[in-house]
Amino acid sequence: MSLPHVTRIAPSILSADFARLGEEVRNVITAGADWIHFDVMDNHYVPNLTIGPMVCEAIRPHTTAPIDVHLMCEPVDSLIPMFAKAGADIITFHPESSKHIDRSLGLIRELGCKAGLVFNPGTSLSYMDYVMDKLDIILLMSVNPGFGGQKFIPATLDKLRQARTRIDQWQNEGGQPILLEVDGGVKTDNIAEIRAAGADTFVAGSAIFGQPDYADVIGKMRSEIARAEAGI
Ligand code: DX5
Ligand code: ZN
Repeated sequence: MSLPHVTRIAPSILSADFARLGEEVRNVITAGADWIHFDVMDNHYVPNLTIGPMVCEAIRPHTTAPIDVHLMCEPVDSLIPMFAKAGADIITFHPESSKHIDRSLGLIRELGCKAGLVFNPGTSLSYMDYVMDKLDIILLMSVNPGFGGQKFIPATLDKLRQARTRIDQWQNEGGQPILLEVDGGVKTDNIAEIRAAGADTFVAGSAIFGQPDYADVIGKMRSEIARAEAGI
C-alpha cells in the first residue's frame, strides 16, 4: 500500500450549531480543520432534510477552506450547477442517485469543481470501474447515510483497503490522483485504524462539534493519524 502523505480533516457541519453556522465554520477552521464537509439531504434519497445551495453561499465568505459538498439527493444533475455557483469546491454524489454517472461526474468537473462518488456500506466499488478518469475523490460511507452520530461499521476497513488498492493501481499506471475519504462514526479512538486501512481524508461531525474544544479534538486526531503512519 502506498499511503499519500497529506491527510485532511473535514468536519461535518451537520453537527454544528445551525443558528451560528458562519461562526462555527470560522472556529473549526481556526481550530485546525482543512475542509468543511457539507451534508445535503433531501428526505427522498435519505430520510432526513438538511441544507441547500443558499446555505453554502451564505457560509462561503466565512472561509477560504474548500467546501466539500456531499449530495444525498436524487436526482443530482439539477443541483450540481447550483452548488458550483454557491461556491462548492468538491461535489460528491451516490451512484444510485444518478441515472448517468459519467455525465454527472463530467458536469461537476466542467463547472470547475472536483468530482467524486460516494459508496454506501452495501454499495459495490465496481461503480468506479469505468469512470476512474473522471474521479478526483472516492468517499466511503462508514455508516448508512442520513444522520450524524452513528456507529462506525467495521467492514468499512476492508473496503478502504480494496479502494486504496484500486487507486494505487490506477495511479501507478499513470492515472490522476484520487483522494480516499471516509465518512461516518470517525472518532479519535478509531481514526488510526482508518488511516492504516488507507484513508487520507476524514469526515467527522459529532466527534468534533460534540466537544467544547475543537482544536483539542482535531489535535488528537492528527496525533492518532501520525501514530498510525509510524506503525505502517
Ligand atoms: C451522514 C453524513 C455524515 C455525518 C457524519 O449521512 O454524511 O457526514 O454528518 O457524522 P458523524 O461524524 O457524527 O458520524
Ligand atoms: Zn457526509
